[in-house]
Amino acid sequence: MNSCDIINKTKRKTPLSYEEIQWFINEYTNGNIPDYQVSAWLMAVCLNSLTDEETFALTDVMKKSGDILDLSAVSGITVDKHSTGGVGDKTSLIIGPIAAACGVYVPKMSGRGLGHTGGTIDKLESISGYRTDIPFEEFISIVNRTGFSIVSQSGKLCPADKKLYALRNATGTVDSIPLICASIMSKKLAMNADCILLDVKYGSGAFMKTIEDARKLADIMTRIGTMAGKKCSAIATDMNIPLGKNIGNALEVAEAVEILQGRTKGRLYDLCIELSAEMLRLAGKGDTEKCRQLAENAVSDGKALEIFAETIELQGGDSRITEDISRLPQPLYSHKVCASKSGKIIGMDSEEVGMTSLMLGAGRAVKSADIDMSAGIVLERECGDTVQNGEHILTLYSSSVSDFSEAEARILKAITIE
Ligand code: URA
Repeated sequence: MNSCDIINKTKRKTPLSYEEIQWFINEYTNGNIPDYQVSAWLMAVCLNSLTDEETFALTDVMKKSGDILDLSAVSGITVDKHSTGGVGDKTSLIIGPIAAACGVYVPKMSGRGLGHTGGTIDKLESISGYRTDIPFEEFISIVNRTGFSIVSQSGKLCPADKKLYALRNATGTVDSIPLICASIMSKKLAMNADCILLDVKYGSGAFMKTIEDARKLADIMTRIGTMAGKKCSAIATDMNIPLGKNIGNALEVAEAVEILQGRTKGRLYDLCIELSAEMLRLAGKGDTEKCRQLAENAVSDGKALEIFAETIELQGGDSRITEDISRLPQPLYSHKVCASKSGKIIGMDSEEVGMTSLMLGAGRAVKSADIDMSAGIVLERECGDTVQNGEHILTLYSSSVSDFSEAEARILKAITIE
């Protein structure tokens, strides 16, 4: 086999065999094929796509490039959930405890944030003492005790994806449905839960800009997961506006606690119930209606909050935050932002809201940057609300930025009032 034949085949839309994809990806991962040849192939994939069989082969080879988790010591059905990333998306912190409260096991590995979207691991690390890097045996033992644990993703999963993703970022080849599918599904399949739920975001700041593309990605990911022997389903959700009212690490943990306390309803709560119900349905707990009821009960009877507190405690964190959110990192500075005219709020550009939060210190512009756990934004009003000129619509928080003028100008541009 040689790389030029492989590039030419994809350029001419001639399907590659499993063996050809295996050879190409493994040789690249081992350093035997140069970046420029793989870049050419990635661009051919972006332009010509791949068949389902090729996408499955790519996913499978990437999955097998590193460790595959052994979850056999978990005492029941395991369910994993993946979101393709969004501003204010703290659903993992909420639906894990809800699903666990209903009798399924949620062993979850998550990543850190980069750019305008936050990472679940960063959010959890805003809880004083919370350990995200724990031995695998301890992770499994916590999952068996409470039904739920989130730790940082093992560095040994999918080395092929790590190398390819860095190359895609540098060569304008990220936005290809089969490549995104293989990248996400190889990691999910290496995590090896029995059931996988995929939450594919569309809109501002998401990889997929339209609901049609999000559905295409959701469909292919479900097909690949099913071909790999998993129970798998996917939903497409709107990311044109931020999810929930808080953006920023400690602020998002606080909002997750409020949802689990049953004190906050609305779009975020509804989505969490929908996602939890789908996780329960995949795990065989009943039909959608029954699973929705189970999920709602887990919030209203306090069981999900109890599980969140117990898991935090077992991971060394201050579980008292589940009773008193003021124990989370508090910002040194705050600034109220007011509407610049009267009218109805008809848009809040997620990506720009995420970038404003990053400016306040809540995110990372580069991988090595430090995060201000207390920083972020609280949206006091939401899309569809009518506001008056001068009315307080949101608050900016930071411990690292005290002059809010740039952040205020940016976020005011992100909010459309008509
Ligand atoms: N997230 C991933 O892990 N990979 C992609 O290609 C896109 C989003």
